[in-house]
Amino acid sequence: MSMKVFASEALKGFHTVAAVAPSSVHLAAAMIEPLHVSQASVAVELGAGTGVMTRALLTKLPPEARLIVFEINPHFFNYLKAHFDDPRLVLVNENVENIETELRKRRIDHVDVVLSSLGLALMSETQRRRIFDGLRPFLRPNTVLTQFQYVSSVQFENGRLHRLSLRPLLHRYFTSVHSKIVWRNVPPAYVYTCHPQPRPH
Ligand SMILES: C[S@@+](CC[C@H](N)C(=O)[O-])C[C@H]1O[C@@H](n2cnc3c(N)ncnc32)[C@H](O)[C@@H]1O
Repeated sequence: MSMKVFASEALKGFHTVAAVAPSSVHLAAAMIEPLHVSQASVAVELGAGTGVMTRALLTKLPPEARLIVFEINPHFFNYLKAHFDDPRLVLVNENVENIETELRKRRIDHVDVVLSSLGLALMSETQRRRIFDGLRPFLRPNTVLTQFQYVSSVQFENGRLHRLSLRPLLHRYFTSVHSKIVWRNVPPAYVYTCHPQPRPH
């Protein structure tokens, strides 16, 4: 069912959905593995779709923690509301560009983990900056962020298609950025793991 909802929304608005199918459980596991979810008090998910990553986050999150989930698409938002009934979950039907206002409204002053599935390559540089500038005040030295990007991902710029590397953008906000490929997803994807401070070896 989630596949049908996802494909239908992707056809209507590929630019925002940025995928044709939900992520595989393998990609979800790779996105969650570097995050210390079981020790988090505040977790944030950016772009939940039909909730494959949300479900995986909730299985590890402590009972008293909160998971703030941003999803701009009203159909996905309603799908999430109908399929998740968990007191730790806060669903926000807002553009992530408003993240600072939305987190402050909920009296959140820091985030421990951030999982982002946003299609950053399909966004403008201004949108990308708004999102990460909005997130920056909540980052702490031990915050960890994961972001995925399809290996086939390209960007339209100055009338031409380019492959967008997320590294320069992520390095503006995070000192340490590591990536690995997850083949068991359609299409395969890089998972970037980012820390505000260098990791001890
Ligand atoms: C590539 S899909 C990933 C969905 C899901 N996390 C998964 O892995 O299957 C990206 C999701 O981000 C949402 N999204 C895109 N831009 C957004 C924005 N500015 N604010 C909030 N959600 C956004 C889309 O509606 C879509 O559900």
